[in-house]
Amino acid sequence: MRGHYNFVFFKKTGRSDSIMLLITGGAGFIGANFVLGWLAGCSEPVINVDKLTYAGNLDTLGSLQHDQRHVFVRADIHDRETLNHLFAKHRPRAVLHFAAESHVDRSIHRPEEFVQTNVVGTFTLLEAARAYWNQLTGADKDRFRFVHISTDEVYGTLAPDAPPFTETTIYAPNSPYSASKAASDHLVRAYHHTYGLPTLTTHCSNNYGPYQFPEKMIPLMLTCALAGKPLPVYGDGLHIRDWLYVGDHCAALRAVLARGQPGETYNIGGCNEKTNLDVVHTLCAALDRIKAKSSGTYADQITFVADRPGHDRRYAMDASKIERELGWRPAETFETGLEKTVHWYLDHPDWVNRVISGNYRNWVELNFKLHPAPRTFFSEIAQGASAKTVWGSMRAE
Ligand code: NAD
Ligand code: DAU
Repeated sequence: MRGHYNFVFFKKTGRSDSIMLLITGGAGFIGANFVLGWLAGCSEPVINVDKLTYAGNLDTLGSLQHDQRHVFVRADIHDRETLNHLFAKHRPRAVLHFAAESHVDRSIHRPEEFVQTNVVGTFTLLEAARAYWNQLTGADKDRFRFVHISTDEVYGTLAPDAPPFTETTIYAPNSPYSASKAASDHLVRAYHHTYGLPTLTTHCSNNYGPYQFPEKMIPLMLTCALAGKPLPVYGDGLHIRDWLYVGDHCAALRAVLARGQPGETYNIGGCNEKTNLDVVHTLCAALDRIKAKSSGTYADQITFVADRPGHDRRYAMDASKIERELGWRPAETFETGLEKTVHWYLDHPDWVNRVISGNYRNWVELNFKLHPAPRTFFSEIAQGASAKTVWGSMRAE
């Protein structure tokens, strides 16, 4: 077979039927939480296709290294030949498409990769899924599902008193990231409308919880707080997000997979609209309680910094459709979800330190002989550059 095709760990499941999920991006934050939760709850195997960009971390999936139900394939979703091979060999009953470039700040400085992965990559995956689905027959064809994981950001920004986004809110993406996700949503919609591919699209709000890469707000603030560093709040800190605990999001995706209607879209929200400043203060108060500083409070470290260009002011989700039609609602409040998250980060210093030092990539390379890591914020720091220099130079590009 032409092209690269690196198996990191590959286990034969011994099954020949099509009771299997194909997950893309399952070494990232939400995908890995989904895989871990899925395999904790049922015996259906998962084939996990991930390119392992800086955001992919096999360390997160270390507990599955010897689990026969987890098949990990390092591959790019642009690689049609590999996708064809995986569909033909494993005959999945569904695809859950998490793989994406997902960080808004990075999309502002390097938008190309977002168009390549989020738009062209999704197109390639849709084409491979369509070819596979076309040759299915009977019950296998009827039950096949393609679940596309999208974002609330495709709807744009809300005025302070505007009603929350619904599934019929008109798209108005404002960043290269959200524009690339919107483009992928349109392709998914078109593949259902034109070809009948049984697609479902979900739009979720800001996730937080275990295993989130510390470039995103909550784990960034947590790790900076513990390291005694400034907590960089963009602009006036009054931008509003709706916070969704990742375990609740994964439960919603299981409901969509099990009971969602092909061609439909579902909003998934946490019912937790908060300003960024509120979030940081709540986090600092939790840390003060759980791991008090010798003097002062973590809130003393809050520092206002330049705003993100094009920063959306407010997101809010109306998630009544998924509750009404599929019976899902979040189990966690922001306070309970944040408490779990703080404890998880405090209890997993090794995972955090390997990410911050860049060693999570060395772990992968040493153990599985992969390609060299690309330049990332954390890998440069691991090579001796100061965080300030690297952060500054990456933002300037
Ligand atoms: P993440 O950045 O943590 O993980 C993305 C994963 O995709 C990584 O493992 C990466 O290696 C992989 N990947 C990237 N490019 C790839 C490619 N070309 N081929 C194969 N794999 C590739 O992202 P996340 O936070 O887990 O988000 C998952 C999905 O959920 C994304 O589609 C994102 O747009 C969406 N989403 C995320 C949030 C959030 O708050 N994190 C909210 C709404 C929607
Ligand atoms: O809304 C869903 C989106 O949530 C997802 O589609 C994205 O993949 C995900 O990255 C996330 O995007 P945000 O830009 O909202 O997340 P982020 O954690 O980067 O920022 C959250 C808010 O916090 C945002 O208003 C910017 C602000 N922020 C962020 C960082 C990293 C700060 O004030 N300081 C920071 O250092």
